[in-house]
Amino acid sequence: MCEININLQNTDKYIGSEDFKLLMSKASLSNNKIDNKTGEGSEYLGWVNLPQEINPEEIIKIKSTASKFRGQSELVIVIGIGGSYLGAKAVIDALSPSFGDISKSPRKDPMIIYAGNQISGSYANEVKDLIYQYETSVIVISKSGTTTEPAIAFRFIKEAMEQKYGKQQVASRIVAVTDKSKGALKQLATNEGYETFDIPDDIGGRFSVLTAVGLLPIAIAGFNIQLLIDGANEMREIAKTPNNIVEQYAAIRNALYQKGKKIELLASFEPKFQYFNEWWKQLYGESEGKNNKGIYPSSVIYTTDLHSMGQYVQEGERSLFETFIKVKSQRNDMEILNNIEDLDGLNFLAGMKFGEVNAIAEQATILAHVDGGVPIIEISIERLDEINIGALIYFFERACGISGYILGVNPFDQPGVEAYKKNMFALLGKSGYETLKEELENRIK
Ligand code: PA5
Repeated sequence: MCEININLQNTDKYIGSEDFKLLMSKASLSNNKIDNKTGEGSEYLGWVNLPQEINPEEIIKIKSTASKFRGQSELVIVIGIGGSYLGAKAVIDALSPSFGDISKSPRKDPMIIYAGNQISGSYANEVKDLIYQYETSVIVISKSGTTTEPAIAFRFIKEAMEQKYGKQQVASRIVAVTDKSKGALKQLATNEGYETFDIPDDIGGRFSVLTAVGLLPIAIAGFNIQLLIDGANEMREIAKTPNNIVEQYAAIRNALYQKGKKIELLASFEPKFQYFNEWWKQLYGESEGKNNKGIYPSSVIYTTDLHSMGQYVQEGERSLFETFIKVKSQRNDMEILNNIEDLDGLNFLAGMKFGEVNAIAEQATILAHVDGGVPIIEISIERLDEINIGALIYFFERACGISGYILGVNPFDQPGVEAYKKNMFALLGKSGYETLKEELENRIK
């Protein structure tokens, strides 16, 4: 069972009970719009019941490909950008040992790396070198099938794979996850005989982690995707109950926003959450930053960032609030050692676990930030495992839809992402963009 709780007591000073009640009733109405598909963007609500409705045959197919890839690969390259890689990386990083399994020989799990999530030439060359060093398989993920970054990454990766394995063999080492019928990637996969997985039409990139987009890389990394789905499904049930925690989170962040708290810092004391934070930022940034509105999603990993951002959070402009993700129990903890000389004066900690000190650092930080005028939402999970991560994913997805509707935007589109693409194509000389190219070049001069 998933164990997730929310604590709003450190927001009380900012949000009166009447204000909160009002926002809760808006949250409930917005939540109903998601269930009834009556809000804007309702054609992209395929993720809502996915944890319950996911086709068991799809899970079998994912597991079977994952097991083949695990058997044949030391290295798996996941090609994708935005929603097409962040969810997988978030879950894999949260659940994996911090340094992969480099300590084990022979390796049990393939090393998973990512490509096509930026356009760095040196990164591309480094990926290419790895293909020649390790037994490699590739998952190329793009819903549209035409996104520049993954498409140009796949060009060199495909060529290197073909050089290494030959055109015949390579088809068993490349899988495409894309639209079921349209797009350049679908066409290419059909022509080359690659196995394909479909991304449902009604699920946008940033809501796609529980489709093959996320589940295939996660299964290849060795995690139990059924438990992830079960956790999400439990949260889907919770989200149907009155005054549930999902609605509470959506309501309180909007209440704080209305009081001038325009920035939300997702904070965790567990470094394995770094990419979960990135996934969350994309989810909320792309869903809510519209019509000149939206809470700016940012993130920190503490205690690391207390030594960089701590000063600002404590005493900078009072326009932010924090959402802490607390992990209650830690696996694989370690004791702090006694030292005879005690030069650093820290022997009073000897015998305590790192996790205990971390939990106290967390408590101390919350108290300090509250005193500094930062409202704090606390979300706690019992432990870092598939069930709780699955539940957390659904929690944030559902709350994002509710929150976007409260804010008055369509949380399921992303028209703003096109602006840089148009400029980039024009400046690169793509045909059809001649007038814009001239206009932009005049501006650059
Ligand atoms: O959430 C989104 O829709 C985006 O971040 C997309 O996932 C991202 O732009 C990649 O798109 P595609 O999967 O079509 O290559």
